[in-house]
Amino acid sequence: MCCRRLKKERLRRPFMRRRNTIVAGTLIVLLLVVLSGFIARTGNPELVDKVFKVAVQQYTQMLAHSKDLSLYPRTTDKNGQTKYVGIGDWTGGFWAGDLWYVYECTKDQKWKEEATRWTQSLEKDQYNTTHHDLGFMMYCSYGNAYKITKNEKYKRVLIQSAKSLASRYNPHVGCIKSWNSKMSWDGKTLLTYPVIIDNMMNLELLFFASKATGNPIFKNIAVKHAENTMKNQVRPDYSCYHVVNYDSATGRVLNRETNQGFSDNSAWARGQAWGIYGFTMVYRETHDEKFLNTAKRMADFYIDNPHLPKDKIPYWDFNVNQPGYAPQWNYDKRRFPDIPRDASAAAVTCAALFELSGYLGKEGKKYYDFAVATLNTLASPAYMAAPGTNGNFILMHSVGSIPHNVEVDVPLVYADYYFLEALLRYQHQLNALNNN
Ligand code: GLY
Repeated sequence: MCCRRLKKERLRRPFMRRRNTIVAGTLIVLLLVVLSGFIARTGNPELVDKVFKVAVQQYTQMLAHSKDLSLYPRTTDKNGQTKYVGIGDWTGGFWAGDLWYVYECTKDQKWKEEATRWTQSLEKDQYNTTHHDLGFMMYCSYGNAYKITKNEKYKRVLIQSAKSLASRYNPHVGCIKSWNSKMSWDGKTLLTYPVIIDNMMNLELLFFASKATGNPIFKNIAVKHAENTMKNQVRPDYSCYHVVNYDSATGRVLNRETNQGFSDNSAWARGQAWGIYGFTMVYRETHDEKFLNTAKRMADFYIDNPHLPKDKIPYWDFNVNQPGYAPQWNYDKRRFPDIPRDASAAAVTCAALFELSGYLGKEGKKYYDFAVATLNTLASPAYMAAPGTNGNFILMHSVGSIPHNVEVDVPLVYADYYFLEALLRYQHQLNALNNN
């Protein structure tokens, strides 16, 4: 009897083991399903905390060795030390903007004080009419200052900055002139009315000024500029030319070129990013579907591009070394056995896609998921610097301009700015999702 029970018991054991395995497996699968649902709902707020913790560490050190308020951190030199630029440079406002974003996240008064000091140091730029970059310089600094503090003094500076920017608008062309003049890379043409895709970013300042003053003139200029950029600068495949040169008397397009991209017909990665961000912002301000469509198609060009690396950080130009793309500048392929990536283009695109995804209903998921994946890559050790390194910037591996042989595989202050902006946009969207 005893023996028979033992035999029966032995026969049952493998079955029990299998049953336990099945139960455990099912529980794990259930747990994973619940967890992934939870993550989809809550996202990953720890990512935001992780990066801002690094920002606080890096920028605390940056401030410790950046005492001169007329010298703005931009990148690093060949020894890895912070490199500074003066007030007239297009990047001055990003540093103040970085500090405002750290304040926005931490709510620590120390950051507000630093952001305020660095913002006010740019005050004279409100009268700068020498180039088109007033939007970058003033809206990233004073624009954030006003958004956060509502101080009327900041508003007055922003309005004057918009007037300076608008002074570069020529109604015959219907665009703001970006640079005064520029020689083309082949040395044959002096571009006397060059408009660059980057200029889309400066329009936000003009929209602000119309809302702040009630005067539609600034907005009208911005809309005309965006329409003409859409018509003349965006290609049928929704990549874009970097530079379009106009006849200032008739508004006729004279030349289509590149200045910072691989070739005239190539897709410079940061130019594409400026376009995606710029047209998304113009849609926000106008609710005109044609701008939304352009932003979306430009984003599709970027996201679905067969030359985009798997980690979603683009090469500095989508067409480097490809047949049919011939640089007019002095390009030596041997200098770049690995094509440099541009983390700044990734950061700008990422910030833009969080906004764009919010305008597209169910279709927005593609753009949102891509933005989250980009954030994760940028926040990984492959791109985010260890505290105490990288000239105290957050992101590594950006490109300023390879044709000019400057800032190749370096940190850039604007890469940090749009990275922090993307993280804050992500955080706001997560909060909105979880409060619904
Ligand atoms: N706006 C200049 C650049 O993107 O390099």
